[in-house]
This record gives sequence, C-alpha cells and structure tokens, in this order.
Amino acid sequence: MSPQPTNDVLSLSLSAKAKRTVEQPISFLMAAAIGRKDLISFAAGLVDEPSLPVDEVRAITQRLFADPARARSVLQYDTTHGLKPLRELLLQHLEHLEGHSAEAMGLTPADMLITTGSQQALYLIGDVLLDPGDIVIAEAPSYFVYTGTLTSFGAQVLTVPMDNDGMDVDAVERLLTRLEKEGKLPRVKLIYCMSYYQNPTGLSLSTPRRKKLLDLAKRFSKSHRILILEDAAYRELRYEGDSLPSIKSFDPANQYTILTQTFSKPFAPGIKTGYTVLPADLVDPILQQKGNHDFGSANLCQNIAYETLKDGSYHKHVQVLNAAYKHKRDIMLAALTKYMPKAPGLSWVHPQGGIYVWLTLPAHIDTSREAAMFQDSVKHGVIYVPGAYAYSPDEQGNTPKNSLRLCFGIVPTEQIEPGIERLAGVIKQLIQSPACGCGAPAGGKCAR
Ligand SMILES: Cc1ncc(COP(=O)(O)O)c(C=O)c1O
Repeated sequence: MSPQPTNDVLSLSLSAKAKRTVEQPISFLMAAAIGRKDLISFAAGLVDEPSLPVDEVRAITQRLFADPARARSVLQYDTTHGLKPLRELLLQHLEHLEGHSAEAMGLTPADMLITTGSQQALYLIGDVLLDPGDIVIAEAPSYFVYTGTLTSFGAQVLTVPMDNDGMDVDAVERLLTRLEKEGKLPRVKLIYCMSYYQNPTGLSLSTPRRKKLLDLAKRFSKSHRILILEDAAYRELRYEGDSLPSIKSFDPANQYTILTQTFSKPFAPGIKTGYTVLPADLVDPILQQKGNHDFGSANLCQNIAYETLKDGSYHKHVQVLNAAYKHKRDIMLAALTKYMPKAPGLSWVHPQGGIYVWLTLPAHIDTSREAAMFQDSVKHGVIYVPGAYAYSPDEQGNTPKNSLRLCFGIVPTEQIEPGIERLAGVIKQLIQSPACGCGAPAGGKCAR
C-alpha cells in the first residue's frame, strides 16, 4: 500500500552547530532601516557611499579586460592560498605600515593568505582551533558578529574590560592565572583583540599593552600555544594620533600572533577581499578548511586589489577616505557636545580612527531593543546598536545595558547632526522623567 499523502512536514534534523548559530542581532536593525525613509540610522556598520572608489575600480577593470589574455586569466580560478603577486604586494604593504621588513617580522608570502573578507579568516581560524568547550578571551565589549561565530563553534567567550588604552591586559593576566588554577588552561586557545579603533568602542590598544599581551600569550602557553588573534580591520582609518605597530610586529618568530586585515574598510567591501598573516604551521590547516569552503577567493576581486595597490590608487584613496571620515566623525562629536545633556554617567569615546562612537549613559538607562529608549528613538526617527549585543554575559549571566554604538560610516553627512539631536532629545527625556512608580528606575524597563 502506498503511503497516504499528508500535509504534515517532518522537522529538519539540524546539526548541533546549526542549532548553536543564532541570527545576527543586527539583522533586525537593518530591516528596521529599510522602508522608513525618515529614519536616521547610526546602526548599520556600513561604509561611506559617496567616497567609494568608483572611478578607480572602473579604470582598473577596463585595464584588466582590455587585454584578452589577462581578461581570461582573471576570469579563471586561482589558488586556495590566493594570487601570489597580490600576497607579495600585501607583504610590502605590511612592511610599509609597520616600518619593519618582512624578514624582521619572520614573514614570507607563504604566510600570507587571501580570504573572502577578513570575516572568512576569522571563521577559518575558529574552525581549525576550536572544539566545543574551548575558551576564547575577548574584550568587553567585542565585535558581536564574531562572538556569534565563536558561539556557533561551541566556544566559551570569556571577556575582560577595556579602558582608554584598550583591552585591560592586567585583567587578562588575572583571568589566565585563575584559569590555570582551575586546570582550564588547556582549553584556552585564542585571545581575540581588535587592536585598532575597535568595533564597537573606537578604542585602540596602547603600545605597552600590545607587548604585554604577547608576553602573556607566551607565558601561559604551557601545553600548546595560546594564539593572539589580532583583528586590524580598521587599522588604516586613522584620523589623528600615532601610527601604532601591530602586536604581530613584536613577534619576530611569527609564532603567537595572527593578524587579519581587509580591503573592506579602507577601500571597498564590495570586493570582499581580506588578508591574514599566519604562523607558518597554521597555514596548511587553514588552507585545507578554505579548500572545503571555496578553494580560493574570487580571482577578479583579488586582481582588482592587486591593481589598486600596484598603481598607487589604493594609497590615494585611503587619504581621501580618511579626510571624509574625519569630517563625519568631527560632526558627530560636535553634535554630541552640543545636544547631549550634561548628566553624571553620560560620556562618549573620542575615537582617533574607525567608524564608531561609543556612548555610555547613566547606569539606570536601558538601551536594549525592548526598552523605552529604543522604542522612543525609533518613534523619533533614529536608531543605534544597543550596546548589550556587544557583551557576552558575565558569570552571573548579566550584560551591561546602558551603552550604545553609533556608526558614522554610511549615514549621510547632513543627517548626522539632526540624528544626534533626535537621540539627545530621547535621552534628555529619560533622564528628566520620574520613574513611573512600577518600581523600575526612570528610563528602565517598565515592570507594569
Ligand atoms: C572588527 C571587524 N572585523 C572583521 C570584519 C569583517 O569584515 P570583512 O569580512 O568585510 O573584511 C568587520 C566587519 O564589519 C569588523 O567590524
């Protein structure tokens, strides 16, 4: 007898990893911005549009396709490792950024890997190093997309606070000491640090702390090497302050640090091309996993990256871009000074680079999506990223809720001041309004 037709659909049997993977919290913010023309969004971490290198990329692609033999080669697959001439040029670019030769940093083009955005490198690194239950030490707050990736691997993300000098490395030392006492050091695999103009705070790690972090990784590497994953996505977006050496540059044997950088922020995310220098013995395991992913990033995009570095248009573009971002940052900072109420506990970071301003509000004001502040902000036509997304819960399961991330990347320049004025209006109201009587503090989540 043939089975009876049925409308019931059997449920899927998803992998444990798929079940650990949750939707990126920011997706709803993107969705909220679409379809509301009046909404000013400081939420999306997208880059400035008017300054995207349209003319440069047009000229490059015309050149690439003018010669049929070259055109055919860029339309063919390349290697998993990435286009060799690009890896060589990127090493020169790194030498220029660091002021050290590749040799002095223990690097050869074989240690350089091209990926589909630096996000793919971050993923692959987690994939080859982490088993469920392994520990990653990160900053609080941190890049929430990667925290989600780490969680999908089943890793435990333990965080340490930040101050104006970046990640609190003394707190890293205390944490590693405690983990050693508890016999958990063998589970510690990575220290994830955004050393330049961090997402979300805009803060950078000071030079003495860079050295100390590396010393700690070495000192606590007992049964295996604890690696520092230095995410330098925003490195080249510098508007003031000194050019800082990477943590990697203090590791001349190229053993303890992985440095990831990208064309997305200083050039164009549309070519989705990132590059990473890896300790030599990590290259093959990563290549094998990348082989499973895509056996090589888009060759056309790699050729665009190569050409822009080679003809110097990249370097000119970074200068133009930094002038544009500095202007936007200055407008945002001036608007914050002009419109934000003076209140104890209300402050913001003055970032020297990157595309984010981190705002901290009085402790009782809850910025989360469910709370009055977010709802009121949407009503007044402005959105931001609630800071809680960037925190991993502490051991009691709590996350700070009184901060928020403002991105001046994609928002049009002329919308920055009105957007901050609207946000300040909402905050002023919350600071001034008395508690409703439900027991929750003013600006907090109403219990009624
Ligand atoms: C800190 C940080 N790292 C890495 C990335 C990944 O960027 P991409 O994959 O485009 O290089 C981002 C993107 O926003 C980021 O903010």
